[in-house]
Amino acid sequence: MTDIDRFAEVGTAAAMAAGKLLMERLRTGFIISHKGATNLVTDVDIASEKLIVSRIVEAFPNHVILAEENHSSAKRGEHTWIIDPIDGTTNYAHGYPVFAVSIGLEINGEVEWGIVYNPSLEEVFTARRGGGAFCNGTPIHVSGIADLGLSLLATGFPYDIRTTKANLDHFVAFMLRSQAVRRAGSAAMDLCYVAAGRFDGFWEVELHPWDCAAGYLIVREAGGEVTDFDGVRGSIYHPEVVASNGLIHRQLLNVLRKGKAL
Ligand code: IPD
Ligand code: CA
Ligand code: CA
Repeated sequence: MTDIDRFAEVGTAAAMAAGKLLMERLRTGFIISHKGATNLVTDVDIASEKLIVSRIVEAFPNHVILAEENHSSAKRGEHTWIIDPIDGTTNYAHGYPVFAVSIGLEINGEVEWGIVYNPSLEEVFTARRGGGAFCNGTPIHVSGIADLGLSLLATGFPYDIRTTKANLDHFVAFMLRSQAVRRAGSAAMDLCYVAAGRFDGFWEVELHPWDCAAGYLIVREAGGEVTDFDGVRGSIYHPEVVASNGLIHRQLLNVLRKGKAL
């Protein structure tokens, strides 16, 4: 077994256990608190993160953890596990089944492995750098749609939307130029759906590394493209992202550049 096999084994087991916890607590109940007026967190976010972190720390005590609910002292290391214990917490809190556990493993600054698990649909998306992307073990590939006008797109909005109005201009611009735009509430799922060819493109203006560490790798390994709004290769530490099947990428960038003027 190679090192990366062992990392993938532990990471997968942690994601599956966390997914099971999410489903159990949906049935038995959870407590909601507010980080902000539109920004919820549940005790399941905290419990899921603790569970994942404990599994990883037990197996790899020297590895570094960057996790959403407890990242204040986080730094990056040679091996850094980047964890979103529930991506789509607002959906989870309302029982809307678009949420996932997302775990990415960065080694020497490059995400080498990732998993996004949606336990309500029992879909597990995985990728290893250079090894392709998979859904429930079957290889996946981005779509072949080459015309923005025929494309199904996805986006999301930051929690401070009420004050910043961020991304509304781009949303309107794409609504007028694509077949449709969806806003399902989980960036990790949106990215996996681009990888699986269900969406043709996705953009967001304010992502964090835990939202996208696994997702960017899964899109790239499925043959897609991930950049910032200037077309520069997307980093998980940069808030802006455009992810697509590659075929409509330039068209997406053109709209984003002109968005405010449309
Ligand atoms: C959020 C979701 C949402 C996206 C936000 C993220 P969370 O993550 O991915 O789709 O629009 O930017 O913060 O808070 O549910 O983990
Ligand atoms: Ca998230
Ligand atoms: Ca989260």
